[in-house]
Amino acid sequence: MKLALFVAAAAASFGQVQALMEKHCARCHEAAKSYSLKQDRDGWQATMNKMAGLGMKAPDAELAEIFEYLVKNYPADTVAKLKVNECRAIELESTLGLKRSVAAAVIAYREKNGPFKSLADLKKVPGVDPAKLEEKKDRLSF
Ligand code: HEC
Repeated sequence: MKLALFVAAAAASFGQVQALMEKHCARCHEAAKSYSLKQDRDGWQATMNKMAGLGMKAPDAELAEIFEYLVKNYPADTVAKLKVNECRAIELESTLGLKRSVAAAVIAYREKNGPFKSLADLKKVPGVDPAKLEEKKDRLSF
């Protein structure tokens, strides 16, 4: 993309970009799918390339506006995820708000049964609150 396109992008307002996405992205899928991801600049570039490969056609300047909007408003999550199979009890307490006894039960369960494969596995630990885990699931990686 050329520099001029980025300048154009900076000038576009929220409403204009929404309209552009309705016009260009919602041709193939609901507009909401277009911002269903949170990723860094390279990730959004890859998505735009993928859509182009799928047959998306629109003026470069308009695609650049959409691209800049997505990069700015849907960035990658910056909070590091907790690695459930490597973390210590104290990290479970602080990240998930678990009681000390429950955090200890998670570690004990992991030592006995091996790594957790999914959220469903983690919910099997006696004493955990499945609803609370569900709420925080985006903070976890397995
Ligand atoms: C020519 C049709 C077409 C257009 C136009 C289009 N998309 Fe898509 N898009 C698709 C298809 C097909 C999928 C599902 C791809 C898959 O399942 O691998 C998709 C999926 C996605 C996804 C989900 C993640 C992924 O990679 O599957 C995102 C995000 C997305 N599109 C963004 C956009 C944005 C932003 C625009 C407008 C700038 C856009 N799309 C325009 C066809 C299109």
